[in-house]
Amino acid sequence: EKDGYDWFMRKEIFEQPGAVAATLLDRLNEQGRIKLDESTISPGDLREINKVIIIACGTANYAGLVAKYAIEHWTRISCEVELASEFRYRDPIVDSRTLVVAISQSGETMDTLMAIRHAREQGARVLAICNTNGSTIPRESDAVIYTHAGPEIGVASTKGFLTQVVACYLLGLYLAQERGTLFGDEIANVLEDLRATPDAIAKVLNDLGAVMKLASDLVDVPSVLFLGRHAGYPVALEGALKLKELAYIHAEGFAAGELKHGPIALIEQDLPVFVVVPPKGRDQLHDKVISNVQEIRARGARTIVLAEEGDTEVIGYADTLITLPKVSTLLQPLVATVPLQVFACELATLKGHDVDQPRNLAKSVTVE
Ligand code: M6R
Repeated sequence: EKDGYDWFMRKEIFEQPGAVAATLLDRLNEQGRIKLDESTISPGDLREINKVIIIACGTANYAGLVAKYAIEHWTRISCEVELASEFRYRDPIVDSRTLVVAISQSGETMDTLMAIRHAREQGARVLAICNTNGSTIPRESDAVIYTHAGPEIGVASTKGFLTQVVACYLLGLYLAQERGTLFGDEIANVLEDLRATPDAIAKVLNDLGAVMKLASDLVDVPSVLFLGRHAGYPVALEGALKLKELAYIHAEGFAAGELKHGPIALIEQDLPVFVVVPPKGRDQLHDKVISNVQEIRARGARTIVLAEEGDTEVIGYADTLITLPKVSTLLQPLVATVPLQVFACELATLKGHDVDQPRNLAKSVTVE
């Protein structure tokens, strides 16, 4: 069943172009408008929504953090992202105008389930983004978008994450369509860009030489840092989580802009630091992150830079350069996460760990 791969995780990493394509399939109705898989939320109620709260755990929470940038940008509705385990214990402000979005690959995560039960008791509408048909979380929700990743067996979420980001983007576009905050052609353009991502992901998977070499070079390091900004920030968090759970190496993800507020004190000779560089856009994020790369390199860090192809400005400051296909800032997480997954999988393999069943972890956490 592993199709010749050593691990389910590796197989699932390579299934990502297909999983993303499948998640994008059949999303329009006869009028060419985006539809949900299931929904009992009336159009009127949907227009009344004035707040989105995304609730999830672990990697699914990071998919939510990525989605926040897109949902707020496209819909102009404020969007909070919260760890499911924290949600109901803080007396959250939730009412019938709140859309609570629960993201869960398994659909059985107890923290997430208890959070949506609490949200519903307060009158919120709940929409589930889930990979498992008929599981508890979608059954207890008012609306559902299924990810079509196929079964994810490896404990580390990979294709689950990418398809969750895609499903969240479909939700963002759906809300923008229903509320009229984007024009039809703007929605069509984003959908077209999304449909091009499976090829971009496949390109990343065909060019893993630098990552594989890096894993063997870094097999004995005690600590690794990850930096990102905007949609690259949750990518940094996800890169760090993968390394913790698979390779049992201390790893931390930071927002690059926070570096000067503390974490830069951690930088020392030869410390490996991954940096996700945003595409060159109209804002100055790209240049600011490149300054961060310069700052940490000047302090001796070993810089591992993920940047889009043709980004010549960064080359002089990258000890290792991982090139990413050109995509928009919002879609960059769909390509930038992949080398980090492969890095963690490879490093854990070299350390002799069980990649599919890391110590102390369960695929589905059904206790609070
Ligand atoms: O099934 P879920 O998506 O609700 O699971 C959420 C987390 O437990 C899960 O993403 C976990 O963080 C993974 N082990 C990460 O690789």
